[in-house]
Amino acid sequence: MKQIQLHDRVFRMSIPEQEIDRAIQAVADKINADYKDSDSLPLFLSVLNGSFMFAAGLVKRIAFPCEISFVKLASYHGERSSGKATELIGISDALVGRDIIVVEDIVDTGNTYESLMATLMRHNPRSVKIAAMLLKPEVYQKTLPVDYVAMQIANDFIVGYGLDYNGLGRNLPDIYTMVRQK
Ligand code: IMP
Ligand code: MG
Repeated sequence: MKQIQLHDRVFRMSIPEQEIDRAIQAVADKINADYKDSDSLPLFLSVLNGSFMFAAGLVKRIAFPCEISFVKLASYHGERSSGKATELIGISDALVGRDIIVVEDIVDTGNTYESLMATLMRHNPRSVKIAAMLLKPEVYQKTLPVDYVAMQIANDFIVGYGLDYNGLGRNLPDIYTMVRQK
């Protein structure tokens, strides 16, 4: 299998583009079936940077009228020392009463998803679901359901199809897994 080097690490191709496309099509089919009778205008919220390629692959297969927006998550420390909170940057649409589908590159520990969900809930949407290109089920420990998952992977570090290693690899059309160093 094809190997590449990014910075100091070697990665081996693990999921070819055709397989990613098939998995995205399967997720799109499910979402199309679930939302075909929705009377609202569902809003896909792509979480940047990692999900841009998955979002493009997904929404071009969506068959109902919908809107697409892009958001970023910024972590900050609240006034109390009780830990991290997240702020959503780029929300220009009103979320009140909307059906939201969060589009994420990967759910790993689920910390990002959990705080994003809490933040979104403060905007009083009608529903929030998530479509994740990848899930690491061995790592994910939260109780929140991950509604739509294109592919499940082992607890490895991967790049490609939007995902990066220190800024590199996002442009790769296939997914690569980091080769463990001996
Ligand atoms: P979580 O909060 O642990 O679920 O991590 C989610 C975020 O961490 C993702 O949106 C990615 O930006 C990043 N991430 C997690 N696993 C990987 C990986 O294997 N490769 C690249 N980025 C990852
Ligand atoms: Mg991300």
